[in-house]
Amino acid sequence: MLKIAVFVSGKGSNLKSVYNKVSKEKLNICTVVSNKEDCSALSFASEKEIPIFLVSEKEKEGFVDYLFLINEFQKFSIDLILLAGFLKKIPDYFIEAFENKIINIHPALLPKYGGKGMYGLNVHRAVFNANEKISGATVHFVDKIYDNGKIIAQRKIDISHANSPEEIAEQVLNIEHELLPYIIEKFADMKIIITDSKIKILD
Ligand code: GRF
Repeated sequence: MLKIAVFVSGKGSNLKSVYNKVSKEKLNICTVVSNKEDCSALSFASEKEIPIFLVSEKEKEGFVDYLFLINEFQKFSIDLILLAGFLKKIPDYFIEAFENKIINIHPALLPKYGGKGMYGLNVHRAVFNANEKISGATVHFVDKIYDNGKIIAQRKIDISHANSPEEIAEQVLNIEHELLPYIIEKFADMKIIITDSKIKILD
């Protein structure tokens, strides 16, 4: 059983797709963490009775800090931390504590269209303005630089008929909802092999 923590800031459609598509026998979403008090992702977590933490680097009532989460995750032996639309930069000491254990889903084909400020519609606008014909989604490990960690998997999609950044966003989100549960299931089946130079996904 893979024990994960999911970090969210918004709609939580990726959280929902993982919750709905990965077998409950293989996956335990132990907690959902957010920097935003009011977001649909948190409402979904409460509805499903998943324990919630609000996190902030600054002292704030009702919020825990990242040190607290490190202790908690270590105590409960969390195997994997998934950033699914989490919009805050994670502090370096948290990333160091969980090397090769934090993954992110990004709505473009990295290494293009990543980095600071490249989130949400900003990404799709840049892709649209560059007149790209193909876009996609990337699941990658998180390191200390935005969208820079090793790529685990990507899925491409033809966007040549999209008439706006919003249309691209919709098309890409649909494939995120396939790619992310697929990868989480591969982690649960221990079919993601990490070597120094490569990441392999076994059949
Ligand atoms: C997704 O496009 C994801 O790639 C990005 O933020 C968006 C989150 O959507 N990191 P949701 O909150 O999962 O619906």
